[in-house]
Amino acid sequence: MKDIARQNMSIKVESMDLLNGQIKMEAHASAIYLAMASWCEQNGFFTSAKFFYKQTEEERGHMMKIFQFLVDVGGNPISPEVKNINHDYSSIVDVFETTLEHEVAVTKSIHNIVLKARELGDITTERFLDWFVLEQVEEENTIRDILDMIEVTGTEGVGLQMIDNKVNDWME
Ligand code: FEO
Repeated sequence: MKDIARQNMSIKVESMDLLNGQIKMEAHASAIYLAMASWCEQNGFFTSAKFFYKQTEEERGHMMKIFQFLVDVGGNPISPEVKNINHDYSSIVDVFETTLEHEVAVTKSIHNIVLKARELGDITTERFLDWFVLEQVEEENTIRDILDMIEVTGTEGVGLQMIDNKVNDWME
């Protein structure tokens, strides 16, 4: 991208670079959730697989929302390269715990960009990220609720299949 074009953007260059990093993170999340859907399919957790197919689409939607924002502000969105997707999980609990870890990392990353945008006086980026801040509250809450349910249900005997059935409650 030419220097003059970077200077004519309606957001700060530093914000654009951070948002391109976030595009990559959302693409990575989409790929991780697809790998989790695969694991769920192979291990008989068919409702959970549907849940992760939905999450995959949502994460791609998040990625495209940022991508389009960078187009709108005259920036240069980068189509991300996604590597190192883990397909091995030890249990359905591992799948959901890993999901929560990932969502917490995404939240931290979003907050970091908000704080940086604030420091830069980049009000446009800060406002744009409001939606993502609230979306993360919802996403973390969903996964915490599922983990709470797993704790109550237990993973012995029919517990595992009950867990899978109950994941349906978090599918809109
Ligand atoms: Fe787009 Fe679940 O973070």
